[in-house]
Amino acid sequence: MINGCITTLLFATLLSGFSSALKEGQTCVADKNCDLGTQCETCLANGNIRPRCTRIKPLIPTSKVKELPYNRYSWLTTHNAFARLGERSDTGSVILAPTNQQDSITDQLNNGVRGLMLDMYDFNNDIWLCHSFGGQCYNYTAFQPAIKVLREIQVFLEANPSEIITIIIEDYVTSPKGLTKVFDAADLRKFWFPVSRMPKNGENWPTVNDMVRQNQRLVVFTSKSSKEAAEGIAYEWSYLVENQYGNGGMIAGSCPNRAESSPMSTKTRSLVLMNYFPSNPDVTQACKHNSAPLMSMMNTCYEAAGKRWPNFITVDFYKKSDGGGAPEAVDVVNGHLVCGCEGIAYCKENATFGTCALPEVADAPSISANSGERMVQLKWFFGMVLMALLTCNL
Ligand SMILES: *[C@@H]1O[C@H](CO)[C@@H](O)[C@H](O)[C@H]1NC(C)=O
Ligand SMILES: *[C@@H]1O[C@H](CO)[C@@H](O)[C@H](O)[C@H]1NC(C)=O
Repeated sequence: MINGCITTLLFATLLSGFSSALKEGQTCVADKNCDLGTQCETCLANGNIRPRCTRIKPLIPTSKVKELPYNRYSWLTTHNAFARLGERSDTGSVILAPTNQQDSITDQLNNGVRGLMLDMYDFNNDIWLCHSFGGQCYNYTAFQPAIKVLREIQVFLEANPSEIITIIIEDYVTSPKGLTKVFDAADLRKFWFPVSRMPKNGENWPTVNDMVRQNQRLVVFTSKSSKEAAEGIAYEWSYLVENQYGNGGMIAGSCPNRAESSPMSTKTRSLVLMNYFPSNPDVTQACKHNSAPLMSMMNTCYEAAGKRWPNFITVDFYKKSDGGGAPEAVDVVNGHLVCGCEGIAYCKENATFGTCALPEVADAPSISANSGERMVQLKWFFGMVLMALLTCNL
């Protein structure tokens, strides 16, 4: 009987240990141990060798409040979203260009990325996502035809009728109506947010609710000014200010505008974009960059932009961090923008600005969807303990 009692007790202990997913910050062995929206990571660049469950997903801010203008939200944005680590070129060539992200566009969107930076070129009688040497795309710098990624975006918008995606194109396309043709071919025209509705003088954008109702859920910016008149594709720097990218944008305490952008404090541009990634993408350093220094630069850029929080937070390797990372940075900014609190988790539905929910107790389950499951686990556990005790007494 003693054996049975010990076995049952052991079993109960194991069950309770293994059946509940680990929360952010807890030590893990593999991704599958971690809660939804986190994965098991170390950050060697910070000397952090303990694998912990690390955030890879921001909260979708529109799940709390939908009636605010589009420019009152912050969106997680991936730099060179298409340049995936370990990818082969669709030409069959190996890729000899730098890579900036770890997963597909579909996975990025499913993880809450809502801004995508894409470099588009004329190549092989089509539009390709590519890097260049001297403005020229080669087989070994060409990732894939743009249509493939645009179709992934189309599928996501179709399947998620209240989500909004912003595409920011570094535009090298010179073929006549090249971009128009590829967006039409991807069946994205029906989601197009028209240039005519974009505020020209620093006013608020339409609300997210309105954009969803009218199904104008795709916002596209190009770096080529002529395409606004010619093709109805918004010229990026008429609508947003953007800080310096690359190493020049990573100097602590300084947030200068990139050359093409008006100064950060220009209030006639309603949107603010913050870049924070080095000139040469570095997957090993990304966890460090995407953590405390990113948060710190956010505050610097907030001041530089005339006390405006960034609407787009753009990073390399968005899933890498030493803690909450870029997803947490987005949550913090959304808290400020949406309800005036320190994070979107503290925003209350329909509450007046500045009314914050109490921070959660550290031990409480953070995702309510899981609490039912936890209750069941708890009952199981106590059931097993009771059984073990009864068996032991007999
Ligand atoms: C580039 O890729 C295309 C398509 O796969 C191929 O036909 C062509 O020969 C390649 N060019 C070079 C220079 O390798
Ligand atoms: C918030 O406001 C919306 C629209 O007025 C309403 O449908 C919703 O039920 C409200 N939610 C709460 C928690 O009061």
